[in-house]
Amino acid sequence: MTKTLIRALQADITSLSVDAIVNAANPSLLGGGGVDGAIHRAAGPELLRECRSLGGCRTGQAKLTGGYRLAAGYVIHTVGPVWRGGANGEPELLASCYRCSIELAAANGIATLAFPGISTGVYGYPIEPAAEVAVTAVRSSLRADTGIREVVFCCFSPGDLQVYERALGRNHEKR
Ligand code: APR
Repeated sequence: MTKTLIRALQADITSLSVDAIVNAANPSLLGGGGVDGAIHRAAGPELLRECRSLGGCRTGQAKLTGGYRLAAGYVIHTVGPVWRGGANGEPELLASCYRCSIELAAANGIATLAFPGISTGVYGYPIEPAAEVAVTAVRSSLRADTGIREVVFCCFSPGDLQVYERALGRNHEKR
């Protein structure tokens, strides 16, 4: 059983040399702003060409493409829930994004992957509850023998990094 290192850092996710980076996409998978825009800009036009062939992606699901000009060899595109107050299945859908991304990584021999804060930008999910859902979902998905060696929560600001480090610490206490 592979012991997986889980950590948080502050960086532009497009700069990370991991096997796969996760994209916070929209259901069309045809690009957008935020991290989606940054990943498409860094990967180049071939990424969009491959995305066009995928037929979109449902909220909570994940799809795999190549990484093209990115340092990462793969991009896992997942679509987070839009925050509507928290009583419309948002936590379950967000957890599903992390779970499906881990499962897709494990099924494709991906050993190191980095997540942005899915849904915590344009989609309005508050960062604290989102980080709790993310850490809990990743930890429970890694109980299976996934072969994944490292999962990185890639934060775009010092504030977000603090939130993720607290969430990682709290979950340790919960064990
Ligand atoms: N590297 C790492 N994190 C980033 C980067 C980057 N280069 N750019 C933005 N982020 C962070 C944001 O600060 C936020 O914490 O990614 C998190 C997710 O924010 P969004 O990119 O806005 O994604 P999301 O909230 O899931 O909304 C998805 O936005 O870009 C569109 O097409 C996308 O419609 C979809 C929606």
